[in-house]
Amino acid sequence: MKFIKCKDINELSLLAANNFKEVLTQKANPVLGMATGSSPIQTYQNLIKMHNNKEISFKNTKTFNLDEYVGLQPKYVFNSYKDFMDKNLFDFVDINKNNIHFPISWNQEVDINKTDYSLYDEQINKESGLDLLILGLGNNGHIGFNEPGSLLNSKTRLVPLTKNTITANSRFFDSIDDVPRYAVSMGIDTILKAKKIILIVVGDSKKEALNVLKQATAFDINWPCTALVNHKDVTVYFIDDNK
Ligand code: F6R
Repeated sequence: MKFIKCKDINELSLLAANNFKEVLTQKANPVLGMATGSSPIQTYQNLIKMHNNKEISFKNTKTFNLDEYVGLQPKYVFNSYKDFMDKNLFDFVDINKNNIHFPISWNQEVDINKTDYSLYDEQINKESGLDLLILGLGNNGHIGFNEPGSLLNSKTRLVPLTKNTITANSRFFDSIDDVPRYAVSMGIDTILKAKKIILIVVGDSKKEALNVLKQATAFDINWPCTALVNHKDVTVYFIDDNK
């Protein structure tokens, strides 16, 4: 795992976007894994700029998002990860909307007893896997919505969100009671099958998880991000706060 110290969010977001540029310009049919949340917003803004400057095109690109909420009230459609992706990237680039994938639709009726969504993994495999996957980091070390306790061999599945994640995400809702309790997320195994992974670490609340990751030599089930030590092409971008 490579750790790259960045001086600020601008540098981090440019370096992250350059990873996309490399794949988008070198591969004929790129397959990308996408994250939502606060961390990648500027990275996606850079991609829009690169697209406007004709440096990159998404014409032949397929995307698979990491996760989507389950049980989101319709009034919060703007908090769905589909909406986030449209507003922060897809509406501004030349991607074919049929090539955009989510593990479920944000407004899909879901039986919470059915947890297996590994058809999504099969769909990704059919496309020969993810060429590049961008991840953010949860305060509790989650990647995607693989919360502490997630298994290394986990596939795409319905997951209950932890109290920590519900609290962290309540900033986008009128009340914490409105935050969905479940999501469907790529599993750790799904994530580790990506050919190249970039993890962007943004925010002071990630310090503990980042330190655990820096010191990790093996997978620790209490810190899902440590699964990344088992992958051969991971770059972690973080912001140096000792400036
Ligand atoms: C989002 C996702 C999450 C976030 C993480 C960090 O698709 O899978 O793992 O990346 O919760 O969120 P932010 O970037 O909002 O701090």
